[in-house]
Amino acid sequence: MDLEFNPFKPGSGLRPPALEGRDEQIGAFELLVARSKRQNYDRGPILSGLRGVGKTTLLNTLVEHADRQGWLTIAIEARPSEAGTTAVRAKLSQELTVGLRRYSRKHRIQHAIDPLIDLARGFSLGLGLGPATASFSLDQRPAASGDIDLDLEELVEAITAELRPRSSAFGLFIDEMQDLDSDLLSALLAVQHRASQREWPFFLIGAGLPNLPAVLAGNRSYAERQFLYSTIGPLTPAAAADALRIPVRRQGGDFTDDALAVLVQASGGYPYFLQEYGKAIWNIAPHSPFQLEDAELAVEVGRRHLDEGFFPSRWNRATDRERRYLTALAATGEETPRSGKVAQLMGSTATGVSDVRNSAIRKGLIWAPEHGRIAFTVPGMADFIRRQPAE
Ligand SMILES: Nc1ncnc2c1ncn2[C@@H]1O[C@H](COP(=O)(O)OP(=O)(O)OP(=O)(O)O)[C@@H](O)[C@H]1O
Ligand SMILES: [Mg+2]
Repeated sequence: MDLEFNPFKPGSGLRPPALEGRDEQIGAFELLVARSKRQNYDRGPILSGLRGVGKTTLLNTLVEHADRQGWLTIAIEARPSEAGTTAVRAKLSQELTVGLRRYSRKHRIQHAIDPLIDLARGFSLGLGLGPATASFSLDQRPAASGDIDLDLEELVEAITAELRPRSSAFGLFIDEMQDLDSDLLSALLAVQHRASQREWPFFLIGAGLPNLPAVLAGNRSYAERQFLYSTIGPLTPAAAADALRIPVRRQGGDFTDDALAVLVQASGGYPYFLQEYGKAIWNIAPHSPFQLEDAELAVEVGRRHLDEGFFPSRWNRATDRERRYLTALAATGEETPRSGKVAQLMGSTATGVSDVRNSAIRKGLIWAPEHGRIAFTVPGMADFIRRQPAE
């Protein structure tokens, strides 16, 4: 088919040609926004799931909806490591100022929002970041107590006090939320807690790896009750088929049923894989409808692309020792083996390898689905590792 018109988009957070299988989460969020307009506040969603399952895409969809509905929206992506902490804090401060400015222009309420912008600048000072721009109006003392909990609370209270009478709300959307530095996370959870109690329209909305709910609960015990937790999983076979067929039909093409079935099966319903296989079959098939042979070839080509991009981008981030751990995990042949079993395959004990296990968890390569068990965060990673030539 004509390469130029290929609708499929394997990538990170790229809007897919058809966003399938997420009606439940989108519907729940639309309800939250609709209720917020009536000053009837619910819990915000936390979306967690494996790599490439479509969390960022879904989060972006929610941001756009909230934005269209008149919310003040701010979106950031957390990052691990100390350098990441500073960068993320700087980004948060910057986005706060930019978001407030955009909001005030859109709704033509500069007089109400300008003092909040000063306050937001004070907040970045308090974070030790220095002012985004040098000047503060003289009568506005910035909230720079330096105590991140207090400053954040003051800021959110002031912002929501302006938004509430306008039936609007403040949504702070955080991707890769498991990587947020624990001081900032703890301040945000405390503010969310306070906001719910006082009916301030403030919503933390997060997306991240499957360990995110545990990270939140580990930070503040009440986090378990603060959010609506939603696991973002692979698409059902019907939704996966739609994710492939709808974009192709839109361009006047189609699949034979058996060709479609082969791709759905090979993808396991994982959105990233669907985009990769969809892209491959479009490029391979000489004409429509796409045939079984086209699909079989597309799986081969798509898998090669995954082996050259999706998997190595994770694998290459691992140290030699972490790779040995991942290889042992793959060698168990189980989805969620006991950590002890992995350690045994490395000729060690669970305690002996706990440091490497923890560092791989911090890098988001693996996670602990339950106490004493371990699993990959990347679907298909075990097969990829088993395909690697032994070193
Ligand atoms: N519901 C869906 N239907 C079809 N394709 C989707 C869907 N959701 C996401 N995709 C596609 O899947 C790919 C991965 O999506 P996304 O980057 O949102 O995943 P992610 O869960 O954030 O991954 P990571 O954990 O690596 O950040 C993108 O190419 C996106 O276009
Ligand atoms: Mg993502």
